[in-house]
Amino acid sequence: MKTTMIMNEKGGVGKSVTAIQLAAGFSLNGMKTLIIDGDPQGSITNLLLDETTVQEVDKKNLTVSTVLEHPDMINDCICPVPSLENTYIIPSTGLLTHTMKQMEFNPLTSYPNKLQKAFRNLKGFDQVVIDNNPSFSWFVFNECAVADLLIVPTNIEFNSLRGIDNTIEDVTSVLQQLEDAPAMDIKVLVTRKGRTNDDMERLKEINAKYGKHSYKTVIPNQDKPVRDSLNDHKILLLSHDKKKKAARSYRQLVDEILGNHHLEKMFHDKEAA
Ligand SMILES: Nc1ncnc2c1ncn2[C@@H]1O[C@H](COP(=O)(O)OP(=O)(O)OP(=O)(O)O)[C@@H](O)[C@H]1O
Ligand SMILES: [Mg+2]
Repeated sequence: MKTTMIMNEKGGVGKSVTAIQLAAGFSLNGMKTLIIDGDPQGSITNLLLDETTVQEVDKKNLTVSTVLEHPDMINDCICPVPSLENTYIIPSTGLLTHTMKQMEFNPLTSYPNKLQKAFRNLKGFDQVVIDNNPSFSWFVFNECAVADLLIVPTNIEFNSLRGIDNTIEDVTSVLQQLEDAPAMDIKVLVTRKGRTNDDMERLKEINAKYGKHSYKTVIPNQDKPVRDSLNDHKILLLSHDKKKKAARSYRQLVDEILGNHHLEKMFHDKEAA
């Protein structure tokens, strides 16, 4: 099982959009995939689950909060994602902020091994993708103890490098404090790249600075297709519309991560058919 955490301490850089596309791409590769919504705002939860289900899990408290308090209950908190085959989610609600604070300041529970314990009860998943809100919380500490890959999505505004560096520094310092964390690969993903000279220059700067720690794939800035997919509760990556270049780029990203050409072939074949 591979675990990917999606994190940037800067807000609005495409973390949640990226998390959804990765999960969709993994599931199209036949991998059983679990999304963990680590954002108390629950943006992914509300996108992938219908209102009734969200209300129900909230009422029964079958969310990430419960996983942190009772790691052995993780399987009770997993819901199937209706729009994606082979894909499941552990939803999040606003309660997560409260749970995190409570656990963080309790000396008996503060050591960040709750996800580690919970994951021992997970069976049959090939991929786990964890979305985060833009702050370095105790939940992020917990993720560091289980993640094989950190993806730092970033837009390319003038101050983007600071968000990337802060995130990488904080994660690295957590990894140094943890006794039994797995080896973690760290990758920067440029999202929302426009076609201006400024954007080209910043992309070069990012590639030069992070080298092999940045993905070759770059996600273009495509306001309307991305916004429409979110508003319509549709998965961008599944779109065959050639104008939706961001969809194609996310497919390329999944191929780059998995080291295959599966999605490129799958969508090309379908377009050709
Ligand atoms: N490639 C893109 N092109 C254009 N707009 C995009 C793109 N990716 C994301 N967006 C827009 O940027 C906004 C933020 O995206 P998203 O919610 O994924 O970011 P986030 O990092 O998860 O934000 P937060 O830090 O608030 O959780 C959304 O309104 C989305 O429509
Ligand atoms: Mg988000």
